Amino acid sequence: MDTATITPAWWPKAAEQWGEADRSLLSRLDPERLPGHVAIIMDGNGRWACAHGLPDRISGHQAGIEAVRAVTRTCAELGIRILTLYAFSKENWARPAAEVGALMGLLSRFLVAERHVLDEKDIQLRTIGRIEDLPPDARGALKETVSLTSQNRRMILNIALSYGGRDEIIRAARKLGEQARRGEIAPHQIDEARFSNLLDTAGLPDPDLLVRTSGEMRVSNFLLWQIAYAEIHVTPVLWPDFGRGPFLEALIDYQGRERRYGLVVDPETS
Ligand code: FPP
Repeated sequence: MDTATITPAWWPKAAEQWGEADRSLLSRLDPERLPGHVAIIMDGNGRWACAHGLPDRISGHQAGIEAVRAVTRTCAELGIRILTLYAFSKENWARPAAEVGALMGLLSRFLVAERHVLDEKDIQLRTIGRIEDLPPDARGALKETVSLTSQNRRMILNIALSYGGRDEIIRAARKLGEQARRGEIAPHQIDEARFSNLLDTAGLPDPDLLVRTSGEMRVSNFLLWQIAYAEIHVTPVLWPDFGRGPFLEALIDYQGRERRYGLVVDPETS
């Protein structure tokens, strides 16, 4: 039998339809060492629109929606349990009103169009950030999709909206201050676990892998507390071009890292 045609038992059924290049990338992955939580800074939509001679940056955001679908689908197929996407930062409100409005419209339409697909695929939608800042349409679409998918268990798609890492930390610190003021906790009871439980990501494990597209070497106020030990993969690929292939490459890069969490590797045992 031709060994090149043997499909490993762990491969998702969907991989039968993938192209040869993606199947070859998949064959380099170890199913036992996939990240449990991937966080992505989706960057480069504006540059993608400009590079394609499109009239405005909004066309780039529009194209970015397809990458959101592709990466979410691939995570679900591979069994990656949590995907956190940085869709709109607290700082993004300062962009031109037309761009902000278009992004909110895209988000609402995505939520309405995809809600049943998410539900069918057993994906739970969650959010982090100041959701109360969003316009009523987007808030309504979010509320309905979060509620429809709340019992789903296969995967969590977590969207960061009006999100800032420092803002999230300050909000958690204020909650602790309130608890202390009410006499519910003493200062010595404040530890990492208690603090984590007051963040928007309470109950979720920290990201194992942080991906940033478009080549910028910054974390841009994303998940500042949670990425303490995340492996970072920066790719020059602009977000709208970040489909299954570049995502598999990020996973291969991740699996090539030695995660030490501040410890040293014992030469005797490694
Ligand atoms: C950064 O590119 C991208 C954003 C600020 C928005 C990302 C939003 C989407 C992909 C669509 C909505 C998302 C969901 C989850 C439905 P940029 O505009 O900063 O690009 P540039 O650096 O090239 O200018």
